[in-house]
Amino acid sequence: MCGIIGYSGSRNARTVVLDGLKTLEYRGYDSAGAAFSAEDITVFKTGGRVSDLEKITPNIVAHAGIGHTRWATHGAPSAKNAHPHLSFDGRFAVVHNGVITNCDELKLSLIRRGIRFVSDTDSEIIAHLLSLEYDGDMVSTIDKVSSLLRGATTFIALKKGDERVYMHRNGASLVVGKGDGECIVASDALAITPYTSDVAVLCDGETAIMNATDVKFFKNGKQLDKPFGKTDRTAPKDCSCHMRAEIDEIPSALLNAYAEISRSITPAVSDMVRNAKRTIFFGCGTAYHAGLYGKIIFERVGVPSNAVIASEIDDERFIDENCLCVFITQSGETADTLIALAECKARGARTLAITNVKESTVTFEADETVFIGAGAEIAVAATKSYVCQLLALYMLSQERTEKRMGKSEIQALANAAKVVSKENLYAPEYKDFNPFFIGKGIDNVTAKEGALKFKEITCKFADAYGAGELKHGSIALIDEKSVAYVVSTNEHDEERVRATVRELQSRGAYVFAVTNSNRLGANKTLMLPKIYDENLYPVLSVIPLQNLALTASLCLGLDPDKPRNLAKSVTVI
Ligand code: BG6
Repeated sequence: MCGIIGYSGSRNARTVVLDGLKTLEYRGYDSAGAAFSAEDITVFKTGGRVSDLEKITPNIVAHAGIGHTRWATHGAPSAKNAHPHLSFDGRFAVVHNGVITNCDELKLSLIRRGIRFVSDTDSEIIAHLLSLEYDGDMVSTIDKVSSLLRGATTFIALKKGDERVYMHRNGASLVVGKGDGECIVASDALAITPYTSDVAVLCDGETAIMNATDVKFFKNGKQLDKPFGKTDRTAPKDCSCHMRAEIDEIPSALLNAYAEISRSITPAVSDMVRNAKRTIFFGCGTAYHAGLYGKIIFERVGVPSNAVIASEIDDERFIDENCLCVFITQSGETADTLIALAECKARGARTLAITNVKESTVTFEADETVFIGAGAEIAVAATKSYVCQLLALYMLSQERTEKRMGKSEIQALANAAKVVSKENLYAPEYKDFNPFFIGKGIDNVTAKEGALKFKEITCKFADAYGAGELKHGSIALIDEKSVAYVVSTNEHDEERVRATVRELQSRGAYVFAVTNSNRLGANKTLMLPKIYDENLYPVLSVIPLQNLALTASLCLGLDPDKPRNLAKSVTVI
């Protein structure tokens, strides 16, 4: 996904666009650019970060501008491939979020019409088409150009000598804010709320034209009357490490999540859960691991369940009107998850979204939505949103029982999380060891999430292994250069995990344990505080693994907030 922004108003557009790009940089950060419209369109681009863009962007005075921070799909990260892209005649500048799936045929047809491409991107096509198809009316021009494009083709454009900002939404989010003498459009309301909390969300196929005082919406050439509403999405305070802050926020995030999730579990949501004959949990990355947790605890309350990586839905055959399909997505914008949602709806399933962003696409597509209220999560590696997803799944599973989590219980969980969030397993003497994350059952889910966190932000290999399965193959990897992080929170598996610890140690591994048992025989044991329901231990046991990954990343001199090759959520397939 990329971050795109547009501004028209009384402020200096340079300031608004650059500040907005810094807020949106979590969405992609391998190159950046901005364009400003006064008499002429001026464009500044870099193959680096927004901070590099700021250095090369002079203090020009302009009241209309657009900007882009990129997660590369077509064309390597470079100034040449950074957006905005100009049309052949310099009349239009465009920033795009998504992938144009028919770009090859379009590019060929444009080359045949004499257009010379200056970048390797698909997005440049939009700028050229706007100029070639321009008929004096931007609404009909945008409709014509959009009809030629396939794929995720959300874009924002400037026209030379025009202080209006033009935009079209298809496949990737666009939120418009209307302030006092200024309007701003961005991929995420986070970039808008420093100026106004009055926002409107564009839906697929919609076009908007904004100037300093007004925004007009159109669809299929007809003007729409689109309401503005209040958003509560606020950008977090600037800090040196968002991931550190977001792990430290887990106790307060859990309390906020409890209130938000409780509000979200309406009678309609409760009925959905209580009547489900089968539940299937879909997600990607960390959200998929939350789905694995959902499967286990829903089966513990008697609901046949499965967890599916969203991009693997094709082989999930038994989806029908008896299924409740649950889509877990922090951003609410992950393309693979949204595609799986559409497929499940087409097969007649009921659909429930669990997300952290109220204006996100998934909230418009699912039948019902549970908001996790974790607060904006900027670091690419999910931490507080993950534990709040687990809490949401736990509270939803209780709809199948007579139990409900009370205020004293969530407070106790938050207090326990506060204790655990101080714990860190990192030991410099093992920094060059191969890390193994090991658990059984529900603890294997935590091990998988711990391994993913480690890989995401240290860029070093790590993997998760079932405690019972390790000896059937992967144990071949264990030697005196191995360090194991064993998660064990249920008494039922203790004996087997203890045996695994011994198998590891007898082959030279150093074993850390994250557990509520002091009988595992690990070399170093991190005892978890006792809590009232063992189903909630995964909310706690993942936190030391998050701290481990963060510390390892920092000790490697990396930026944990912006890991190599990643984006906060990927809005392309
Ligand atoms: C990946 C992110 O791109 O998308 C992960 O790097 C994230 O951190 C995954 O878990 C799913 O994102 P979302 O927004 O659908 O939960």
